Amino acid sequence: MIKITVKASSAYDILIGKGLLDKCGEIISELTKSKKCAVVTDTTVDGLYGSKILDALKKSGFNAVKFAVPAGEESKSHQQLIGLYNFLSENDITRSDFLIALGGGVVGDLTGYCAATYLRGVDYVQVPTTLLAQVDSSVGGKTAVNIDAGKNLVGCFKQPIAVVADTDTLSTLSDDIFADGMGEVVKYGMIRSSSLFEKLSHGRTKENIGEIIAECVGIKSDVVENDELDTGERMILNFGHTFGHAIEKYMGYGVVPHGKAVAMGMYMISRAAENRSLTQKGVSEKLKACLKANFLPFFSDIDRDSLYSLSIGDKKRTSDKIRVIVCPEIGKSEIVTLSLNEYKNLLELI
Ligand SMILES: NC(=O)c1ccc[n+]([C@@H]2O[C@H](COP(=O)([O-])OP(=O)(O)OC[C@H]3O[C@@H](n4cnc5c(N)ncnc54)[C@H](O)[C@@H]3O)[C@@H](O)[C@H]2O)c1
Repeated sequence: MIKITVKASSAYDILIGKGLLDKCGEIISELTKSKKCAVVTDTTVDGLYGSKILDALKKSGFNAVKFAVPAGEESKSHQQLIGLYNFLSENDITRSDFLIALGGGVVGDLTGYCAATYLRGVDYVQVPTTLLAQVDSSVGGKTAVNIDAGKNLVGCFKQPIAVVADTDTLSTLSDDIFADGMGEVVKYGMIRSSSLFEKLSHGRTKENIGEIIAECVGIKSDVVENDELDTGERMILNFGHTFGHAIEKYMGYGVVPHGKAVAMGMYMISRAAENRSLTQKGVSEKLKACLKANFLPFFSDIDRDSLYSLSIGDKKRTSDKIRVIVCPEIGKSEIVTLSLNEYKNLLELI
């Protein structure tokens, strides 16, 4: 088992390893005096791991209730949130009790936001079961639900009391969902670690996925410790996301999943940045090869006008400027501030 401590406003451990779901009860016993909790999951994950986690909790003397939302992005909604608040209240979950998010990023974000707001805040533990959630969404305390105007527009920061990532759960992911998570993994290599990028370029990541996850989490926790509230350095985690979010919106949410949209966004911004001498020559070709080796797409045929109009709605825009993340070389990243006109010209260089 690998342990990484995140020294955020409240410090917590991220545990990564095989067979951790069975040890969940023991691990959580060390962190709380409460013996009561609610496990929040989705219907797919419930079928696979719901009884396993309840058994593990029971073994350690916990009284656990379970709430399952339908699998999919639509469940990151106020409707599900209110259903969950009512469920917690009906089951007498009090301020000293806690929640467990068992599932992918959807369950993690919904549970985290619920934990931040129910009774003005209760503890929660992340038990991520997708690659994307293990390397990214379970770490750093960003929580959110979606509204009609867009994804993640209502949310807050709420750090979990622990993250327990059982890498055995990844064995039931479809190849497609696994590949989607690899989009964020490649991002970590690009922004911070040329050696990680090198490892990923050979494909065959499943063989040593535990260490790869730990490397990604190490990078994320480092960045989060320096800028928990996302006002500076944390923006580098958004490499590929400005275009990626625009591509997701353009295609319709769910048509291109997040990690694949980020993969396309990373290649496209790198190509444009290379043509504007913000990125060394050859980086985008290496990135393309790495994405292909990991079964990820690298290009979207989104037209430039749509890419511009959909991406300037991004959270990283101020009134007349936009911050764009580029990688001058593999393993290094920087935030570049452009006027909207300069940004428009950059898009012509893709
Ligand atoms: N909070 C953050 O910092 C952050 C960062 C990145 C992404 N996100 C959010 O994360 C969400 C995407 O997360 P995701 O990709 O994990 O999606 P997801 O939670 O929808 O999971 C994808 C699918 O995999 C299934 N699944 C989960 N674990 C499984 C397992 N072990 N075996 C088989 N199937 C399994 C789920 O039921 C679902 O159908 C988005 O809403 C995104 O906005 C949040």
